[in-house]
Amino acid sequence: MTLADLSLKEYIAEQAKLVDAELDRLVPGEGEEPRTIHRAMRYSLFAGGKRIRPLLCLEAARTAAGREVEGALAVACTLEMIHTYSLIHDDLPALDNDDLRRGRPTSHKVFGEAMAILAGDGLLTYAFDVLGQRGDARLVLELARASGTIGGMIAGQVHDIEGGGQPATEELLEKIHRAKTGALLRCSLRMGAIHAGADEAVLEAISRYGEHIGLAFQIVDDILDVTQTSEQLGKTAGKDAAQNKITFPAVYGLERSREMAEEQRRQAHAALSRFGAEARRLRELADLIVDRTS
Ligand code: IPE
Ligand code: IPE
Ligand code: MG
Ligand code: MG
Ligand code: MG
Repeated sequence: MTLADLSLKEYIAEQAKLVDAELDRLVPGEGEEPRTIHRAMRYSLFAGGKRIRPLLCLEAARTAAGREVEGALAVACTLEMIHTYSLIHDDLPALDNDDLRRGRPTSHKVFGEAMAILAGDGLLTYAFDVLGQRGDARLVLELARASGTIGGMIAGQVHDIEGGGQPATEELLEKIHRAKTGALLRCSLRMGAIHAGADEAVLEAISRYGEHIGLAFQIVDDILDVTQTSEQLGKTAGKDAAQNKITFPAVYGLERSREMAEEQRRQAHAALSRFGAEARRLRELADLIVDRTS
């Protein structure tokens, strides 16, 4: 049985298992001193995230190379380290002040605020340790920029926080979402393609796909915050409205937001038009990102 024979659900479970095993290998064990920080890093990392960023990275590498690419798994794991760090910090009292994440009490609720900040810092630092060992400066730059303060994840979080006091314009909304979530998702795809040695045209197509699913992902995240329960999400539902966040449903309403996610899905598929069957999983993942319920 090859990977191609699996149903989407089986394929995702299979890939997530590989990612989890590699993360377990890459991140220091709980017995390693200082134990508290390694326990805290692992507590959030192994709390059952969807692993969508590593999956996209692995699949971009496969699509670009037309085969499995050696070392892609470690590259993919660095995205999950950065993402998990961003969640730990996003939940802190000074940011979204959330008690629930991935179905568990948030890091700062369990380990205290100081250790939660440091656990985020620890995961951030490890991501670049792992990438540094691979010796590909292009990957280091991609990840640093997508996580950073110029159009990257941190920039998006700043816009998100400062947005509270500003009028919710369409421009500001798109700026927040492209940066806080879109940048790292697009980066996941680009890192996979770059690691696989993609040429300019392939990299460009995969980046464009990434931009569309990146925006779709946060539109859907905003919709689910309104329509789902905390149990379904594993995080506190209804938070965005309670905190006056600038979201797609707040600016456009639910129905229009759904249409906009659909439009991003269509454009994501269109971006893959140069590929054949080798992009099947990327197409399925675009659909999953829009159709998901958690
Ligand atoms: C949630 O990301 C935070 C956003 C950037 C919208 P995910 O929905 O990927 O969360 P996990 O990793 O599955 O917990
Ligand atoms: C978070 O956006 C984006 C990050 C950079 C972590 P949200 O604040 O909407 O994420 P959730 O809904 O808490 O997961
Ligand atoms: Mg937030
Ligand atoms: Mg949040
Ligand atoms: Mg959200």
